[in-house]
Amino acid sequence: MAFHIKSLIFFSVLIGCICVSQSDYLFNVCGSNGNYTNNSVYKTNLDKAFDNLLFAANTSNSGFYNASFGEESNRVYTLVLCRGDVQPDICRSCVKDSINMLKEQCPHQKEADEWYQECLLRYSNTSILNTLVTEPTRMHSGTVASDKAQFNQDLRDMLDNLKAQAIQQKFATAKQTTQDRTIYGLMQCTPDLSSTQCSNCLDKAIENIPTCCSGRTGGQVLKPSCRLRFEIGPFYDGTPSVDIQTPSAKQPPAGKLRTTFAYFWIDNAICNMFNFFYFLFFCSSWHR
Ligand SMILES: *[C@@H]1O[C@H](CO)[C@@H](O)[C@H](O)[C@H]1NC(C)=O
Ligand SMILES: *[C@@H]1O[C@H](CO)[C@@H](O)[C@H](O)[C@H]1NC(C)=O
Ligand SMILES: *[C@@H]1O[C@H](CO)[C@@H](O)[C@H](O)[C@H]1NC(C)=O
Ligand SMILES: *[C@@H]1O[C@H](CO)[C@@H](O)[C@H](O)[C@H]1NC(C)=O
Ligand SMILES: *[C@@H]1O[C@H](CO)[C@@H](O)[C@H](O)[C@H]1NC(C)=O
Repeated sequence: MAFHIKSLIFFSVLIGCICVSQSDYLFNVCGSNGNYTNNSVYKTNLDKAFDNLLFAANTSNSGFYNASFGEESNRVYTLVLCRGDVQPDICRSCVKDSINMLKEQCPHQKEADEWYQECLLRYSNTSILNTLVTEPTRMHSGTVASDKAQFNQDLRDMLDNLKAQAIQQKFATAKQTTQDRTIYGLMQCTPDLSSTQCSNCLDKAIENIPTCCSGRTGGQVLKPSCRLRFEIGPFYDGTPSVDIQTPSAKQPPAGKLRTTFAYFWIDNAICNMFNFFYFLFFCSSWHR
């Protein structure tokens, strides 16, 4: 009994630890358009804008927050976008973690962008809302598919369907099942963009796939205005917004089919004997 209680406590603690784990940091890009100093007005304004961003994330569950602070050349613009499937408390943690990390990683740059699996944080001395920004780009990729050509074809089909949905709602997930495999996908644009801007950003992200992830079974393209990811295993929360079931386009060649059939016949001789008798029984009852 004591053992069971101890294991129960152990597992509760373990699960607790997993639940409070830190946000999943990917990378940052410190801007190159100028620096500010420690005691500058710009620094004070940046801290105030970040505070406003935290406050906004604390008080709303929208997952997209913007805040700006200051006057004229010292005005700071910030925004944060959580991945569309991320729960509000995870989003809030990501906003907090990303602000702390970016202050540390880009301590004097007037603008910077930072990506986590769960969110994107940006700040600049120029207005960043309603503006399409497709660079810098960072990419990650998975392992090589065994049937590259077919995989790329399946992937293209999935991305086309997913994009059509994503440009409407600025966030969409997809699950595409063919005879060969299931591919999962996710696309997101910052919600301040128009459908056309979103579409342009996602087109550029799709164009990046051959560079990073040609024939690979997983990949991710991250840009300031949009993100794209695909995997052969589930990686997002919730039911997919696009669920596609497609019979595979390719037919096995006749010769191969016959060989497979022969093996099947030999391997299943006993089973087939039963089937044969069942067949006889079926026919005899049919004739009655
Ligand atoms: C800004 O600071 C970085 C390093 O902190 C330095 O490499 C860069 O040259 C600086 N840029 C300007 C415009 O002073
Ligand atoms: C700015 O502040 C940081 C930490 O507060 C400190 O490490 C750094 O030396 C300061 N830089 C200057 C130029 O004073
Ligand atoms: C956000 O909420 C947390 C916990 O509820 C609190 O500690 C923090 O001070 C809040 N931050 C802001 C900026 O409101
Ligand atoms: C930006 O923030 C302001 C003030 O918090 C808010 O009124 C506005 O709707 C936000 N814009 C977007 C595109 O979210
Ligand atoms: C932003 O900062 C850069 C570098 O200091 C400067 O050249 C540019 O004019 C600033 N932009 C605005 C809108 O103040």
